[in-house]
Amino acid sequence: MSDFEKKVRETLANPQNQGEMEDADSVGTVGSPDCGDMLRMWLKFTEKDGKKVIDKASFQSFGCQTAIAVASMATEMLKGKTAEEAERLNAEELSGDLGALPPMKIHCGQLVEGALKNALGSDDRQQSNTESAQTSTLTKSMSEQNKPAGTIKIIKLDE
Ligand code: FES
Repeated sequence: MSDFEKKVRETLANPQNQGEMEDADSVGTVGSPDCGDMLRMWLKFTEKDGKKVIDKASFQSFGCQTAIAVASMATEMLKGKTAEEAERLNAEELSGDLGALPPMKIHCGQLVEGALKNALGSDDRQQSNTESAQTSTLTKSMSEQNKPAGTIKIIKLDE
């Protein structure tokens, strides 16, 4: 087993910040057209030393274990960061202690980055983020086949 696989396994043994956040300020959802996996991230902000910073972050994911491990790392790392600082983090940085992702797994990290950016509203979807924060869980929106368009954004990730 590679170091990377070991670290993913360790992280998955005790994933952090997994689950829906009831009182979130914003939420972002992305789906990967490559593998069909989806990830949703919730953010809650607070005021610290006159700055608006992330108080906590949580996620829900279906499918890939690497995406869950990266999301677990990323949601821990985001605490105390301003929106601007969070936005500057790329998939590799969000992977934290997992280290560099193997080529086949790079899109898993990008899924986490995409959900974060979506939640930060950097793609002008802030309004629907706020709406979906109050409406449904990822499970619900995935099962609501007839109306996924309003709450789920499919982005094309780099190959
Ligand atoms: Fe698709 Fe990991 S295999 S997100």
